[in-house]
Amino acid sequence: MQKISFYHTAFVAYLEENIRSKEPASLYDPILYILGLGGKRLRPILTLMTAEAFDDDYKNALDAALSIEIFHNFSLIHDDIMDAAPLRRGQPTVHEKWDINTGILSGDAMLILAYQLFERYDATTFQDLAKLFSKTALEVCEGQQYDMDFENRDDVSVEEYLKMIEFKTAVLVGAAMKMGAIVASASKGDQDYIYEFGRLLGIAFQLQDDYLDAFGDPETFGKQVGGDIIENKKTFLFIKALEFSNDDDKLQLQHLFAINPTDPADKIETIKQLFQSSGSADATRNEIENYTKKAFAVLHELSIPENKKEVLRAFGNDLMNRRV
Ligand code: IPE
Ligand code: IPE
Ligand code: MG
Ligand code: MG
Ligand code: MG
Repeated sequence: MQKISFYHTAFVAYLEENIRSKEPASLYDPILYILGLGGKRLRPILTLMTAEAFDDDYKNALDAALSIEIFHNFSLIHDDIMDAAPLRRGQPTVHEKWDINTGILSGDAMLILAYQLFERYDATTFQDLAKLFSKTALEVCEGQQYDMDFENRDDVSVEEYLKMIEFKTAVLVGAAMKMGAIVASASKGDQDYIYEFGRLLGIAFQLQDDYLDAFGDPETFGKQVGGDIIENKKTFLFIKALEFSNDDDKLQLQHLFAINPTDPADKIETIKQLFQSSGSADATRNEIENYTKKAFAVLHELSIPENKKEVLRAFGNDLMNRRV
C-alpha cells in the first residue's frame, strides 16, 4: 500500500482524463465545476486503498472509485439545493452559480454516469458492484429524507439521528470500501468486515461534519458555518444539548429551532454557546472518538497484514482530527 497522497494524486489524474465537457455545455459544465472544486476525495481514496489492502492493483479499482466520487458529488448538488446552501468547498454551490433546474438535471446525469462506469468491469464484478450501489444509493435517499423530515420535529431521538446519518452518509463510506474489496475479489467475510469498518468510520465522519458545521473555522471550512443551525437540523449537538439542559435553556433551544430569522447571526451565536455550556459539544467529540474506536475494533477481524491495518487506522485518525 502507498501513502494517502499517492492515491489522491492518482485518482485526480484519472478523473481529469475521464471527465470532459461536451454539448450541451449547460448540462456538463456544472458537472465539471463541482468535480473540479476538489474536496477531500476520501471515498475514492478508500476504494483504491482497500483494493490494495486485499492485494490487488489500485488501478483496477479506479472506475469504481470514480463512480463513487461522481455519485457523492451528485448527492452534494442535490443536498445543497435541499439545504439552501450558498457555499461548497469555498465556492458558490451549483444552484447559486446556475439555478435550481440546472442542479437537478446535472445531478441526475451524474447519477447515470456513476452507474455507467460499472460497464467497464466483467459481468460478475458488474453485478456485484451495481447491486451494492443500488442498495446504497436508495439508503442515501432514505437518510436524506429523514434529515429533511427531522427539520420540522423537536423530538428526534439519538437512535433516530444515528440511523439517519448511517443512511445519508455512512453506508456510502462502507460501500466505497466494499467496492475496493469486490474488485480485488476479497472473500465475502472480508467484504462484510471492511464495509462495517467503513460504516462505523462514516458515522464518526458525519458526527464530525455536524460538529464542524457549528464550530469550524469559516476561513477554511468551505461551507457556511452555522448552516445546520439556520436550517434547524437535528444533529447530535442539538439532541444532546436538549438532554443536558435545564428547563429554561431547553425552552430557548426549542424556540430558536422553531424560527427562521432573516438575520440568523444572533441565533447562531446563542445556539453555539448553549452547545458549549450544556456539554453537548464535548459529548459530540467523545462520540466521534467512540465510533472511530468501534471502527478500529473491526480491523481485528480482517485477514490482512498488520501494516495494512495500520494505514487504515492512520486514515481514521486523520479524519477524526480534520478541520475541513
Ligand atoms: C460532505 O462530504 C457531505 C457529507 C457526507 C458530510 P465531504 O466532507 O467528504 O465533502 P468533500 O467531498 O470533501 O468536499
Ligand atoms: C450530506 O449531509 C449528506 C449527503 C450529501 C447525502 P450534510 O447536508 O450534512 O452535508 P454538507 O454538510 O452539506 O456537506
Ligand atoms: Mg443535508
Ligand atoms: Mg448539506
Ligand atoms: Mg453537514
